Amino acid sequence: MNATKIAPSILAADFANLQHDIEMVNKSQADWFHIDIMDGVFVPNISFGMPVLQAISKHAKKTIDVHLMIVEPDRYIQTFADLGADNLTVHFEACTHLHRTLQAIKAAGMKAGVALNPHTNIQLLEDVIQDIDLVCVMSVNPGFGGQAFIENTYTKVRALKELIISKKANTLIEIDGGVTDKNAKALVEAGADVLVAGSFVFKSKQPIETIANLKEITQK
Ligand code: DX5
Ligand code: ZN
Repeated sequence: MNATKIAPSILAADFANLQHDIEMVNKSQADWFHIDIMDGVFVPNISFGMPVLQAISKHAKKTIDVHLMIVEPDRYIQTFADLGADNLTVHFEACTHLHRTLQAIKAAGMKAGVALNPHTNIQLLEDVIQDIDLVCVMSVNPGFGGQAFIENTYTKVRALKELIISKKANTLIEIDGGVTDKNAKALVEAGADVLVAGSFVFKSKQPIETIANLKEITQK
């Protein structure tokens, strides 16, 4: 089994000191940078866009995991590849032709991810799971950091793990929203491979230690 990956969400960083927070993640035991792009249409919030991602890319020394909470993500696939995204995750609910979108992400040289809103059933991925590198299970309603974790996530993660095994797929399971040291271990036991953590990391007094602690308690 591979070690659980920890992906601090830059949405909770200090945007006036972004370079400082990026260097912190570089130095820490974190595995990925999780970057939330929101358009104010798919979700009721606007985060940041291309110039900020470009600035992050310049300093980030780890995998850049971009989570698009936008409508019509196909319009921007090549742009995100050019900006240095390693993983590009689109929302199931935002894609009319999901299979085509996944192929386009891979053709642009990135890993292809699909995020599911809390109400979206895992079985909807049955016919496309083998084409997905990463499923991001939303454990809050997307749009904001700092929300409370939705407990039904465990059931979804277990169902997703079963689906991945039954289809012999090679898909990672990422959990996004409300992750803390209280639920991290149980999420990994349910089948999670990657844990996104925003507020829990950046609002803590010693983020490097917080990341190290998450890493330690999620050892498989
Ligand atoms: C929510 C975002 C999350 C968010 C997580 O829409 O997709 O990545 O930044 O933040 P926390 O860990 O604070 O719930
Ligand atoms: Zn996210």
